[in-house]
Amino acid sequence: MPPRNHGDADRLRALVDAAERIVFFTGAGISTESGIPDFRSPGTGLWTKMKPIQFQDFVASDAVRQESWRRRFTGERVLEGAQPNAGHHAIARLVATGKVLAVITQNIDNLHQDAGVPAARVIELHGNAHHARCLRCGLRHELADLEREFRETGRVGPCNACGGIVKTATISFGQAMPEDEMARAQDAIEACDLCVVAGSSLQVYPAAGFPEYAKRRGALLAIVNREETPLDPRADLVVRGELGPTLAFVAGINPGPAGPRLSD
Ligand code: APR
Repeated sequence: MPPRNHGDADRLRALVDAAERIVFFTGAGISTESGIPDFRSPGTGLWTKMKPIQFQDFVASDAVRQESWRRRFTGERVLEGAQPNAGHHAIARLVATGKVLAVITQNIDNLHQDAGVPAARVIELHGNAHHARCLRCGLRHELADLEREFRETGRVGPCNACGGIVKTATISFGQAMPEDEMARAQDAIEACDLCVVAGSSLQVYPAAGFPEYAKRRGALLAIVNREETPLDPRADLVVRGELGPTLAFVAGINPGPAGPRLSD
């Protein structure tokens, strides 16, 4: 059953079918249908309800660090229970065709990997929220251990190996971008013939520079997003609609809750 924006979804499917080296660039909008709020949707986006914590404030203040852990371990805990939706399964299905060079994501929820995209094909520009690291020695810390400490003591203390500051393995505003992921994303963008933006407001740099760069390099650019983005005027195709049904239609999978199976 094609989505409401049938004509545009048809055109997106034609672009995907004709492409040989696709890069997906995803943002929080692909995970809202999994119950994870995005950041800037009017009324529901996280940054419409609270201020993001800046990296330098996290490092400078224990009180800010404990507020950050409180946000992670209390509230609706949507990250823990989230499952991939039809949009994630559709991208995984397209990756399985061998035509997708990489899934560059700004998301930290691991849902592309959970949907079956090989980890080697996922480039997490803003890290991953499912584990933590010491900022001094780099030691990995498991969230379950930190949550137990938080529940028992009301706080998360320093690294038990070196006394350094422990932080989820995500990239906060003001924090250096991961060099390896940035280099891999640039390589993929330089090799692609189609870049598909899926669920991003394209307002946060340097990440948002990648789809722009793809277009500048001569690749085709398609944007699937519920709202306008600053890059829409330069896109070869803009699909205004819900990502799950649109990408499921493009990948030829069933968008229903029962999960992916080839539509009849
Ligand atoms: N279908 C289509 N579009 C959707 C859907 C959906 N189901 N749900 C949300 N959207 C769109 C919204 O309209 C919005 O334009 O997805 C976009 C999400 O934009 P943001 O909330 O700004 O998220 P994102 O672009 O990923 O933010 C980039 O900002 O705060 C930082 O590090 C954070 O990685 C994040 C970065």
